[in-house]
Amino acid sequence: MKTITVSAPGKLMLLGEHAVVYGRPCIVTAVNQRMKATVELTDEPIFSLDAPDVQVTGYQKPMDQLGVGDPLTPLAQKDSTSIPKGAKFVEIALYNFYNNYKGYTKKGGIRVTTKSEFSSQFGFGSSSASTVCVIKALSEITGANLDNKTVFDLSYKTVLDIQGKGSGFDVAAAIYGGTLYFKKGGEIIEPLNVDSLPLIVGYSGIKADTVTLMNQVLEKDQLVVEGIYTDIGKLVEQAKPALLNKDWATLGKLMDDNQKLLSELGVSIPKLDQMISAATNAGAYGVKLSGAGGGDCMITLAPEDKIQAVKDGIAAAGGQVIEVGANVEGVKVENG
Ligand code: MEV
Repeated sequence: MKTITVSAPGKLMLLGEHAVVYGRPCIVTAVNQRMKATVELTDEPIFSLDAPDVQVTGYQKPMDQLGVGDPLTPLAQKDSTSIPKGAKFVEIALYNFYNNYKGYTKKGGIRVTTKSEFSSQFGFGSSSASTVCVIKALSEITGANLDNKTVFDLSYKTVLDIQGKGSGFDVAAAIYGGTLYFKKGGEIIEPLNVDSLPLIVGYSGIKADTVTLMNQVLEKDQLVVEGIYTDIGKLVEQAKPALLNKDWATLGKLMDDNQKLLSELGVSIPKLDQMISAATNAGAYGVKLSGAGGGDCMITLAPEDKIQAVKDGIAAAGGQVIEVGANVEGVKVENG
């Protein structure tokens, strides 16, 4: 039977989170910790999934039941058929592919195994990366050979089917890799020619839920929030040349400004604030949370001679320093 293995990188939001969901630009970089998916076409018309990193093992259902259960089934019909949380993105990705590319889908089944190099707790975008891996793998193994933008559109649709909202920046990072200037829904996906990005990353130890955070912001005064988004959008525009010129001091200052605005949005938390202050006090160029907030990671840029002190500061504040390289290759076929 045909088998293919595909990998895609995780991501870190550099600047522009939340505002990007409402039409402003953001900058995202792909990190050198990857999600891998092996997809096998089988004879029996059964979908099976092993995703041990998200506690899914031996999950199975008939192919004609793909997508049945949460989230595609109307609320009234939800029962024991609900799709387990860890299986949703892969299953709905399959469902969307099969719905859109009927001509390429033969009778028979699919076995999917995913394996991540990073913890799904970090907020590196494991759900989006696995969605992208599955769509890309199906595209290759069936001969549909979709281009990157079509893989993006199908993966982004999958994320929206499940989450209801989101910009798609994480999907773009998983597909295109590198460092991207991005606008919602892939309206702009512009690779930025950045050959090095010496980021230091600290994990807060707290798992955040993106949708919860996005909804939390919706409860605030939307006139104030819109003003904050506009300010964030402006600083992202200024960050683009700073990044391209490796002007880390300017980029750092913009990261600090972005963090202040995220605090005003109410998405930072004391633990992140402590880690951020520690990095600032140790001499970082700039520091901010990365992603939805409420936990997950903070990122910082520091002068060469301050890197160790910044790392020590983050650890002393109770954070876990994660060694990641940024600006790496996007989705790719590992074998097949
Ligand atoms: C979450 O990592 C970043 C948000 O901007 C959501 C999104 O862009 O999809 C809050």
